[in-house]
Amino acid sequence: MDAERRRRVLIVDDEANQRSALSRMVERWGFIAETAADGQEALDKLPLFEPHAIVTDVMMPGMDGMELLSRLNEIAGAPPVIVLTAFGSMDAALTTVHEHGAFWFVEKPIRPRAFRVLLDRAVAHRRLSDDKERLERQLSSRGVLGKLIGSSPAMQKIFFLLRQAAPTHANILITGESGTGKEVVARLVHDLSPRSAGPFVAINCAALPETLIESELFGHEKGSFTGAITARQGCFELANSGTLLLDEIGEMPLALQSKLLRVLEDRRVRRLGAAREIQLDVRLLASTNRDPQKMVKEGKFREDLFYRLSVITVVLPPLRDRIEDIPALAETILAELNQKHHTRITSLDPAVLPALQRYAWPGNVRELRNLLERASVLAGEGEIRSEHLPQSLTGAEAEPPRRALGPIPSFTFNVGATLEQAERELIRITLTYTKNNRTRAAEILGINQKTLYNKLKEYGEAPDE
Ligand SMILES: Nc1ncnc2c1ncn2[C@@H]1O[C@H](COP(=O)(O)OP(=O)(O)OP(=O)(O)O)[C@@H](O)[C@H]1O
Ligand SMILES: [Mg+2]
Repeated sequence: MDAERRRRVLIVDDEANQRSALSRMVERWGFIAETAADGQEALDKLPLFEPHAIVTDVMMPGMDGMELLSRLNEIAGAPPVIVLTAFGSMDAALTTVHEHGAFWFVEKPIRPRAFRVLLDRAVAHRRLSDDKERLERQLSSRGVLGKLIGSSPAMQKIFFLLRQAAPTHANILITGESGTGKEVVARLVHDLSPRSAGPFVAINCAALPETLIESELFGHEKGSFTGAITARQGCFELANSGTLLLDEIGEMPLALQSKLLRVLEDRRVRRLGAAREIQLDVRLLASTNRDPQKMVKEGKFREDLFYRLSVITVVLPPLRDRIEDIPALAETILAELNQKHHTRITSLDPAVLPALQRYAWPGNVRELRNLLERASVLAGEGEIRSEHLPQSLTGAEAEPPRRALGPIPSFTFNVGATLEQAERELIRITLTYTKNNRTRAAEILGINQKTLYNKLKEYGEAPDE
């Protein structure tokens, strides 16, 4: 986890031993710890350290825990406080919570498991209220939700749905064409949930052969199959107390779908070759660029699994159906690219926009990003003008409008197909889609026309000039 995402805990105790023992404990759990010897020192450290939670002892020389609590109550947006109390002083502890506004208390000696759960809750609580505020602000002013951009009505509906659904435990199925932002949405759901302090793990179900996905998902014990030299945790275990994204769920083989269903029902996994099961707390997200309902009808996807995964469904619209979002998307992407390539692009030449809005964007936002990346490197600084864009987008060839090309066809392969077969088939359907316009096809494929021509020749399908 990178430092920016790690949660910070401020530990306040007059006893040096206790301070360092607690810091070590929370650091083992992935938090960043800072310490203070009394309430005043804690207050002094607040502005710079910006803790997500404070853990404080009560009895301290100088400013004690109660005084610290009452000072914190006067600070807007102060972090939640967990108070360390003497064993058996339950009444006093509850008073601390109810009357002095502590988040909760922990009895000494500290039981690490209970303490950890509490600390996670405190931090999540903080994040949630922070995020809510920030969201509301952003939403009203600009069409932005986290990293997601869109003021079009279609995207605004999705923002609304995400704000409702993200903080819950509901499984969410995210669908949409390639490059529409399914992964962005999945991360956002995690970030807006009380699990945001926990892990976010993504696994691409299309990238691995069946046997490997199984062990990737569920883990394995040493020696459970050839090549299993050591025991390994699966994605489910790694995502415990966080969120797991099953990317390209449509590619998951049927046999594995039933195993997945069982895990979802029992909320337990068994590593391959293991005797015992492990209890889990994982929020599941799944995404696909295929039509899951159609797959269910065709018998390629289990209906019961589909219903489990899609308690809520988010259908991301293709970019060509929300062209009003293109200016804002372009602006944000260009700013990001300036950072990445040290370019100084200021804006799009207004003359370019109509061309961008006429185009069909089969690769959606990802394609827009790629196109702007190329253009901004070409331009280097100032405006992006039509000469920085591919001719097919701006020239006479750009007609008729791309929208007329119709829905984007897709195809699937199972493991066993060769790279050459896949390449050949992709070229074929792209050409069908572009109605044999090779300039367009080469563009969509991200190769130059000469390469396309050579490949077709190689396959014995040299095109008619
Ligand atoms: N609404 C959006 N706002 C801002 N950026 C977006 C949006 N949608 C997509 N992007 C950007 O587009 C690119 C592709 O997004 P992402 O990887 O989430 O797509 P995807 O739907 O998962 O695609 P695939 O099906 O190919 O996996 C990323 O660079 C992402 O940051
Ligand atoms: Mg994706």
